[in-house]
Amino acid sequence: MTFVSKYTARIPDATGHIHYTAEDDAVWKRLYERQMGIVKDRASDVFMLGLQRLDMPVDHVPQCEEMNKRLSALTGWRVKPVAAIIPDEEYFDLLAHKYFPAASFIRLLEELDYLQEPDIFHEFYGHCPMLTDPICADFQERYGKLALKASAADRVQLMRLYWFTIEFGLIQESAGLRVYGGGILSSAAETVSSLIDPKALRVPFEDGLPAMRTPYRFDMVQPLYYVLNSFDQLYQLLHGDLLGLVHKAQDLGDFEPAFPPLSTQSTQAVC
Ligand code: CO
Repeated sequence: MTFVSKYTARIPDATGHIHYTAEDDAVWKRLYERQMGIVKDRASDVFMLGLQRLDMPVDHVPQCEEMNKRLSALTGWRVKPVAAIIPDEEYFDLLAHKYFPAASFIRLLEELDYLQEPDIFHEFYGHCPMLTDPICADFQERYGKLALKASAADRVQLMRLYWFTIEFGLIQESAGLRVYGGGILSSAAETVSSLIDPKALRVPFEDGLPAMRTPYRFDMVQPLYYVLNSFDQLYQLLHGDLLGLVHKAQDLGDFEPAFPPLSTQSTQAVC
């Protein structure tokens, strides 16, 4: 059984403009304002600075052009509207060329709190602030390039690395434990629970090897988070032998999953 989305991509018109409805804009405003009240003292300093630099509109769903004007001036990255879920090849190819693939639809009001697939709030609010940071932006570009060339077998560990950093990463900063993963920062509940839920495991990221050995599920609040000491650890990974580490993870084998296996066969990542 494959995952079937109830949403359809919003197609830009000939001028590149996407026509969002008043309800879409109202959902964006509600999500944006609610999340702004939650991220303070919970999100990484890098994310907070990125939010400030991007200065996204509050009262309407931003157009890609609005986002690109600021983002491209900072790190050369751009967002590109795509269908909700696209093939892995296409996804990696876009990252490799500094295009962040962004689902163009926005969730319905009745799904404000829980969504199994990425929408534009996840992409823009959750991910774009970190793309204003040179280290995090380079990390994603290099990841895209490597994953594009990698075998299907090697992509398993690479995608886990992405999942436990860009999507669901935590970092220990001088002021305390903070979130930088976009999968967390686009969820009001998980932004809070990832930092304090006593049932969640928070383990050191180390050299990235443990994350590569850890299976994950996309359809639940994460039972385990990897914690960076600094973004320098991503920089080291970026300039080290990443594929060598992938092969080491394969030799050592997977950790026992901290959750029951998926009952369906759908394993499409939703980042
Ligand atoms: Co994502």
